[in-house]
Amino acid sequence: MDKPTMFEPYSAAADIEVVPSYFPIPGLGIVPVNAFVLKAAQPVLVDTGLVPLSDEFMEKLTSVIDPVDLRWLWLTHTDQDHIGSLWPVLEAAPKLRIITTYLGVGKMSLCDPLPMDRIYLLNPGQSIDVGDRVLKTVKPPTYDAPETTGLYDPKADAFFSSDCFGAMMSEPADSADGIATEKLRDGMVFWATIDAPWLHTVNRTLFEKNLDRIRQLSPKLILSAHLPVAREMTEELLKNLGSAPEAKPFVGPDQKALEAMLKGITG
Ligand SMILES: [Fe+2]
Ligand SMILES: [Fe+2]
Repeated sequence: MDKPTMFEPYSAAADIEVVPSYFPIPGLGIVPVNAFVLKAAQPVLVDTGLVPLSDEFMEKLTSVIDPVDLRWLWLTHTDQDHIGSLWPVLEAAPKLRIITTYLGVGKMSLCDPLPMDRIYLLNPGQSIDVGDRVLKTVKPPTYDAPETTGLYDPKADAFFSSDCFGAMMSEPADSADGIATEKLRDGMVFWATIDAPWLHTVNRTLFEKNLDRIRQLSPKLILSAHLPVAREMTEELLKNLGSAPEAKPFVGPDQKALEAMLKGITG
């Protein structure tokens, strides 16, 4: 895969659709970039995919739900791989409001201010009723942006974890259990060292306590923006992430390595 690619939507559960894509990182592998449609009584879109794939994203989104019906966009954070179709979604879904935090609104105001009448601020620990279930805001144990919020859906028993529990992969997969155990562990640890480099400096006891918060929640489904759907794998994923602080810190290719890579590509 040499360019960002949209894949066909698939079901994570009876009321959850995944709108997946993959993003290649030269020399390192591919990263899934997922958005989710939660078909609650008041339907919720979780994130909006990659900027360069916006047209295709809207097409795939429309194949799983009429955007007009969307009532909420849960923006887990404002990175470019999560806001790709933010504006087309706002236009296509006039009743929709964006769930984010004060920092999320602040960061968006640095380039593309969000309309104040379309936002809904929700902090970790707070909840929102979406008609047939109450979604709870949960801070994921790892993240790369301070405004990040995940959410727990008690009805689907699913934790939408934003960047947390992502993995660098070598090829696409339909579900996390389709990835060999060691490959999944190594891919998750590698991703964590890239996405949350501060992990190497954390107090291990406090980090374990943070992982325990998710352990106690014990979701059947972990729905990461950067991992195929993980069903009943919560303990394995927590163990994998728990080993990340001990891993080798990530250092990207330097200029010499980049020139060697380019030479390899162009011959
Ligand atoms: Fe991110
Ligand atoms: Fe991300």
